[in-house]
Amino acid sequence: MKNKIIAIVNQKGGVGKTTTTLNLGYALSQMGSKVLLIDFDPQGSLTVSLGYKADNKPGIQTIMADSIEEREIEKDCIIEVNENLHLIPANLQLAGIEMTLVNVMCKEQILRSALEYIKGDYDYILIDCSPSLGTLTINALAACDSIIIPVTPEFLSAKGLGDLTATIKKTKKRINPNIKIDGVLMTMLNERTNLSKEMIKTVNESASYIKDKFDLDMKIFHSKIPVSVKAGEAILNRKSIIEYDPKNKVSEAYQRFAKELILND
Ligand SMILES: Nc1ncnc2c1ncn2[C@@H]1O[C@H](COP(=O)(O)OP(=O)(O)O)[C@@H](O)[C@H]1O
Ligand SMILES: [Mg+2]
Repeated sequence: MKNKIIAIVNQKGGVGKTTTTLNLGYALSQMGSKVLLIDFDPQGSLTVSLGYKADNKPGIQTIMADSIEEREIEKDCIIEVNENLHLIPANLQLAGIEMTLVNVMCKEQILRSALEYIKGDYDYILIDCSPSLGTLTINALAACDSIIIPVTPEFLSAKGLGDLTATIKKTKKRINPNIKIDGVLMTMLNERTNLSKEMIKTVNESASYIKDKFDLDMKIFHSKIPVSVKAGEAILNRKSIIEYDPKNKVSEAYQRFAKELILND
């Protein structure tokens, strides 16, 4: 077992965090890795994308509550999507947990403590973060070994990535010194913007801004995810796009991305 925990983070919504968590996880599980997906967004989009309803059922919110109370972590809430792919669902109660964290000692390390009990069972644990840099996301940053940042062409600004990097840097300094940024994953590219000089320029500028300001290397993954209407269709069918339409360009892109990520390990 590799026991690697990866947080999929970006404080902006709609950049492909949930889609990346689901499809990267699916691709890794197909390649034989044992994968756990954690829905860490109170909206529960990942849970719903896989066809599960999380209302009033145990999930990551119960595991967080157990961890806060220092009770034994109940693994019963882990859903077996298939043999190699498991899910811890989330529901809106996770937002309530985030509020109670205010008064908890070491509030940033609650997820990290909980995952100590779970991490031994998996090669990869992927955490689908909510679109904020609040306490939940910091819990994910504190718990993970590395970070994937999905970005759309519109979000590729030095400012947006700078705010995120500042939070990563603080977490690294204060809580999780070994954290590393696996890289930036460009998502929802269309043919027109795909190879535009303008975009390559922005990418390079952002990377060098982050290097100068934070002394962190920010690699851009070679694999890039194109835009396709099938991505939305797959979600309506409650499936990974790789399962729904394996030959689609998005499916192939996520499979290439999974290989690229494994090669870096
Ligand atoms: N490659 C893609 N092509 C087309 N639509 C996509 C693609 N990836 C994601 N989407 C759609 O974009 C929206 C936002 O994606 P999502 O993964 O939910 O982002 P986030 O989790 O960052 O909010 C969703 O409706 C999703 O179906
Ligand atoms: Mg999401």
